[in-house]
Amino acid sequence: MDWKEIYKSKLVTAEEAIKAIHNGDKVVVGLACGEPFGIERAMVENYQSFKDVQITSMLTLGDSPWIKPEMKGHFSLNCLFASQSNRRAISNGDCEFTTSHFYEIPDIIKNYICPRVSIVMVSPPDEHGYVSFGTSVDFTRGTTDYCEVVIAQVNKYMPRTFGNSIKHVRDFTYFVEIDEPLPEVKDVEISDIEMKIGINCASLIKDGDCLQLGIGSIPNAVCAQLWDKKDLGLHSELVGDGVVDLLEAGIINNKRKQTNHGRTVLGAALGSKKLNDYINNNPSVELHPIDYVNNPTEISKNDNMVSINSCLQVDLLGQVVSDTVGLNQFSAVGGQVDFVRGATMSRGGRSIIAMPSTAKKGLISRIVPLITEGSAVTTPRNDVNFVVTEYGIAQLKGKTLKERARALILITHPKFRPHLIIEYKKRFNEDPFTKEELKEQLDDIKKHIDESVGELREKLHEDFKKILNH
Ligand code: COA
Repeated sequence: MDWKEIYKSKLVTAEEAIKAIHNGDKVVVGLACGEPFGIERAMVENYQSFKDVQITSMLTLGDSPWIKPEMKGHFSLNCLFASQSNRRAISNGDCEFTTSHFYEIPDIIKNYICPRVSIVMVSPPDEHGYVSFGTSVDFTRGTTDYCEVVIAQVNKYMPRTFGNSIKHVRDFTYFVEIDEPLPEVKDVEISDIEMKIGINCASLIKDGDCLQLGIGSIPNAVCAQLWDKKDLGLHSELVGDGVVDLLEAGIINNKRKQTNHGRTVLGAALGSKKLNDYINNNPSVELHPIDYVNNPTEISKNDNMVSINSCLQVDLLGQVVSDTVGLNQFSAVGGQVDFVRGATMSRGGRSIIAMPSTAKKGLISRIVPLITEGSAVTTPRNDVNFVVTEYGIAQLKGKTLKERARALILITHPKFRPHLIIEYKKRFNEDPFTKEELKEQLDDIKKHIDESVGELREKLHEDFKKILNH
């Protein structure tokens, strides 16, 4: 049969397509930037027709309908990345959470979760009958190889991308044509603190480096500081809008890459229309499944790989917490460890963990003596090399425990240094700094104590007095 006839024979309404979902099924749905909202809406509207259907979802940018009270007994959610839409449900036990390195997720879904049905979003077919997974190839494309039923929302707004991102119309069970703009993640304004972090990170980046950048304001702040660099490469699981101007200007040109030479490699693109327009029909950008993009061995094949990721907390030994706050799941490990390890294994590679020195509007330090009880270590201390805040850079690899702690204290916000100095002394039974070294920091510390508020100021005064008495 001609592909057009095959396509036509599979074209149905969303209501017809979802009849292929049976009670008790496991269903995997596409990642945020390729989430098949049109088909999901039909499922939610008809929820009473379904019983005990488990949805597996990596990340949604909208509300998560599956955890609404009325869905109980009809749909349940197993998510692979916590977000605003499901954090509370995970904590309350109303939603399951599966933890995994991102590069393993295709295998985890295929061989451990074992969904029967996959629901994805694709571009309209090209003249040869191939649809593109566009912005979201990641784990999504692979599900069409093993799921018994594959339903695709065909959306004219989905870009057509290069790489390992296409499938023939014969590989799907049903197509549902629903055109709707893709969800967008717009750039947020870069704060002064983030700009300083960007400057510190950029000081570790050299001409010819191959970068992995996460999403959010810190990667964008790093991008803003790369305009004097040359011949950068990009091999990243996800990118946002921040990279587009650098790509268009040829600052990122992938010229010195060893793999996918001359091409940007991504697993997914999570930005605004600006990014989607850039990757659409652009042969210099390749999207590949995440078990290739995030595989540390593949990452390491590019020389001078530099990974830049963010975190929530670092202890004085360099253990990094990025996805939990105490017992609460905040996000997920994503590709952080994949890229930290890939960059470490790459010839000339470097891994950077970058974060503001404080959280909660300056009320708490992200650098702490002990990680919060209940938190999980995301990146183990032996994997961590550079930790960056707005106060500088701590280089940890090859350092003794005392050297690590001292380096981290020096990039802590000054108002929290007294507390860490006291904790250092308790732990190592000696002062971290000589009297002369301490004196250099005292003015700075004092200035910040005066800026602090109420209870916190009193606590800081106490700590300050204690270190003066040492
Ligand atoms: N204790 C308590 N709360 C903390 C905290 C801590 N140690 N650190 C941060 N927070 C709070 C912040 O104050 C903020 O809350 P608020 O908005 O109420 O003030 C919230 O947690 C989010 O912190 P923020 O640093 O602004 O988050 P972010 O959006 O920049 O994301 C990570 C940072 C670490 C959560 C994110 O990068 C992530 O999930 N990383 C893991 C996955 C990864 O690295 N993937 C690879 C690249 S895609």
